[in-house]
Amino acid sequence: MSTVPEQLQPIFEQLDKNTDSNIAKLAKAISFKAVSADESLRQECFKKADYIQSLLEELNCTDIQQFDLGEEKPGLPLPPVILARLGTSPTKKTVVVYAHMDVQPASIEDGWNTEPFVLHHDKENGLLIGRGSTDDTGPLLAWLNMIEAHQQLNKELPVNLIFCFESMEESGSIGLENLIKEQAVVSGYFYKTCSKIDAVAISDNYWLGTTTPALTYGLRGCNYYQIKVNGPKADLHSGVFGGCIAEPMIDLVQLLSTLVSSQGEILIPGVKEMVAPVTEEEKDIYKSIKYSIEEFNESSNSETCLFDNKEDILMHRWRMPSLSVHGIENAFSGPGAKTVIPATCTGKFSIRTVPHIDSAKLDAIVIDHVNKEFAKLNSKNTMTCELIHDGAYWYSDPFNDSFTAASKATELVWGQKPDLTREGGSIPITLTFEEQLKSSVVLIPCGRGNDGAHSINEKIDLENYVKGGKLLGSYLYYLAE
Ligand code: BES
Ligand code: MN
Ligand code: MN
Repeated sequence: MSTVPEQLQPIFEQLDKNTDSNIAKLAKAISFKAVSADESLRQECFKKADYIQSLLEELNCTDIQQFDLGEEKPGLPLPPVILARLGTSPTKKTVVVYAHMDVQPASIEDGWNTEPFVLHHDKENGLLIGRGSTDDTGPLLAWLNMIEAHQQLNKELPVNLIFCFESMEESGSIGLENLIKEQAVVSGYFYKTCSKIDAVAISDNYWLGTTTPALTYGLRGCNYYQIKVNGPKADLHSGVFGGCIAEPMIDLVQLLSTLVSSQGEILIPGVKEMVAPVTEEEKDIYKSIKYSIEEFNESSNSETCLFDNKEDILMHRWRMPSLSVHGIENAFSGPGAKTVIPATCTGKFSIRTVPHIDSAKLDAIVIDHVNKEFAKLNSKNTMTCELIHDGAYWYSDPFNDSFTAASKATELVWGQKPDLTREGGSIPITLTFEEQLKSSVVLIPCGRGNDGAHSINEKIDLENYVKGGKLLGSYLYYLAE
């Protein structure tokens, strides 16, 4: 274990001292049901943004502004993005910190042991349980906790910061890309800054497992599609109309079945062909990573893995595309046996994209495939297939200055070198930052691989929450060196 540098030691101690108040802050932040995917909860996203803004005000940030991104659709306003600055020293580096305030849906009926929007401190196991605890409210607060500790000790931060906190990440970051582009062009380098952005740091992913910290240099992209099949004007009785009418749901399930096999193979012609070939060198990377099928099964809580070795699992998670079928709008989904013929239905699926899949070309291939398959059905219904949102994949050099600083910070705080990982998940804005700000991005996760993001009983270990602040503070310290 390396000894803690003199400047950081008091910060670490202060963060420890602030543990209770920082838990209280997380509890408050988590109490907002800021589910971006749920239109009826849109106001909660606004309220949570106001709360986060109040925390930025307490930290004496400047230029705190909530940006109105317009409407998601007529009558439905997009929730705000907050931009804010802290420090404007021309002699210091400037780091952009991105995080998202919105969360995935959650309700206790899904199988949570405690109310998802009421933070539960499980003292026995040292866990902070609640929706957003690890994705991404906990890590967002870890940044703010770290700054507060500096200010309580009258210590300057070693860098200037620009915060970018959005509220639509879980729904494809709609509207954010334009804002970043605007802010990169309109006002200096980014949001009123007169100098180059030195780094972008994002803490919105997780360790691979539960014992070794990670730094992450790749993400898959995500193109999300829907297939809408329209038939009769209203739902019909299957006893009266069944057998005599073209049923939208029958068409839809046939179309969905042409997309992917039960072994996970994407059946749309032309997709696999765009994937970068695996090099021998790359194979070695996967061999050397500590991971096992047992760990995978534990995290999925099942024995349904499609592969029998860690190399295949990691490759299919990190560098191969996947196609998932998510759901069907208007499907009869309740208990019991309702003899209905739904008049219309919308199937939802997404493709996780990887180098070198061309996103626009993928859209064209997917839509063309679905159109052709629909034509084969000879159906009297009508069908449209369209893209709902897309986010690019991202891949970086894990040995640049920013990663080096993050690696030192990880070793300092956790006493271990981080795994260098990629992720199968997506953070749509990552590539935009890299391209627009002409700056590298580092993913520096706070939470562990078993945190259960998007799942029930989502948690962050208290240790990870507290050390998250230390980690992010140390990262800035080493970056400034
Ligand atoms: N924090 C995740 C991204 C992530 C997921 C990182 C899994 C590491 C592993 C983020 O909040 C997220 O869920 N992103 C969405 C984006 C999508 C809506 C475009 C995702 O990956 O599904
Ligand atoms: Mn997230
Ligand atoms: Mn998420």
